[in-house]
Amino acid sequence: MKTAVVYRSHHGTTEKVAGMIQLALGIENCALLNLKTNTKIDLGAYDRVIIGGSIHAGNIQSKVKEFCNKNLDVLLGKPLGLFLSCMDEKLAQDQFNRAYPEVLRSHAKSCKITGGEFNFDRMNFFEKLIVRKVSGVEGSVSKIDMDKVRELLREMAA
Ligand SMILES: Cc1cc2nc3c(=O)[nH]c(=O)nc-3n(C[C@H](O)[C@H](O)[C@H](O)COP(=O)(O)O)c2cc1C
Repeated sequence: MKTAVVYRSHHGTTEKVAGMIQLALGIENCALLNLKTNTKIDLGAYDRVIIGGSIHAGNIQSKVKEFCNKNLDVLLGKPLGLFLSCMDEKLAQDQFNRAYPEVLRSHAKSCKITGGEFNFDRMNFFEKLIVRKVSGVEGSVSKIDMDKVRELLREMAA
């Protein structure tokens, strides 16, 4: 079974989770497709699809939204997983619900909020300023939720 993990990542968290999924499924069974560099993705080559993105200022990347909307019919015909990186635990579910269309959330075998990170080394001046102001965090912190990553893998395999 060939899996496509389609994702967008600003500072590497979602990419890291995508890499964990690939490692678990086996590199030969799982392709990582970064929406930053892959502009034309043919899902016909894959048996199932896992989509991941992250939240900045309340929203998932527009590339992820565009990909979902453009491929809605194909995605509804395949086993699907959805995951999201974000740091605001209180807003996480609401952000997830707004990130992915309802029709895909209902169809998905697995929907997971996989935690997030603040990676100060990869943030620009303004991003650091915003993160310090909004979250009060002063340095890099990793809160990737490994349990949720494992649940995603388990539910996709079921
Ligand atoms: C400028 C900035 C704004 C952010 N805004 C939000 C937000 O509105 N809600 C949230 O839950 N997390 C927010 N985050 C946290 C990101 O979702 C988190 O850093 C995530 O791990 C990023 O994943 P990525 O590196 O794959 O893009 C923000 C992070 C940055 C740097």
